[in-house]
Amino acid sequence: VAAKPMQGRHVIVTSGPTREPIDPVRYISNHSSGAQGAAIAAALRDLGARVSFITGPAQVSPPEGVEVIAVQTAEEMRAAVEAALPADAAVMAAAVADWKVANAADRKMKKNGSGMPVLEFAENPDILAWVSGLAQDRPALVIGFAAETHDVVANATAKRARKGCDWIVANDVSPESGTFGGAENTVTLISADGAEDWPRMGKDAVARRLAARIAEAL
Ligand code: C5P
Repeated sequence: VAAKPMQGRHVIVTSGPTREPIDPVRYISNHSSGAQGAAIAAALRDLGARVSFITGPAQVSPPEGVEVIAVQTAEEMRAAVEAALPADAAVMAAAVADWKVANAADRKMKKNGSGMPVLEFAENPDILAWVSGLAQDRPALVIGFAAETHDVVANATAKRARKGCDWIVANDVSPESGTFGGAENTVTLISADGAEDWPRMGKDAVARRLAARIAEAL
């Protein structure tokens, strides 16, 4: 039996949404199912990698055979990534909330007749940009995702430069693509070498192809 190509490698995968509290019983989040991140973690595991799977509250169960680190907020996710370093690669598939509620209450907010609450927002850490810019312990390969409805290559290429990551996996999420909530994905891989269109395929196939490319690159 040939040795598995990712044996001895450590990969961090972020996945799922984050959940930002408004008060102890309410929160702001998004519709990320965590399906693509879980599939990538499973594919890397199958190639022999040790996987730190850092996940927000997702709809799909985490794969077996990975180290699951469950978090809620973007701040917690960033701290969990930091604690999991060093790693050979980092795949940031989470749908991190861009904003947290700056004036979150530590007690349940009550209807008291004095008008509507006003939420104030503060920016969350950009985990992908942060890990890409680490002077020490930057993983050799940092991969981000981009969901684009139009001008996929131009927007994702700009995002790669802005974030400082090595690859961007760009998804076509235009309404006619059927990617959101669907089992399939249309992906363009953006690297320093340019843009590579992958044929439309299932999210599991995208995960296996990406894992194989990661193994090749390391
Ligand atoms: O900026 P945008 O959210 O479009 O970028 C998407 C990519 O950046 C994804 O890989 C996502 O996991 C990552 N990201 C992050 N932390 C944030 C926002 C996005 O790691 N606060």
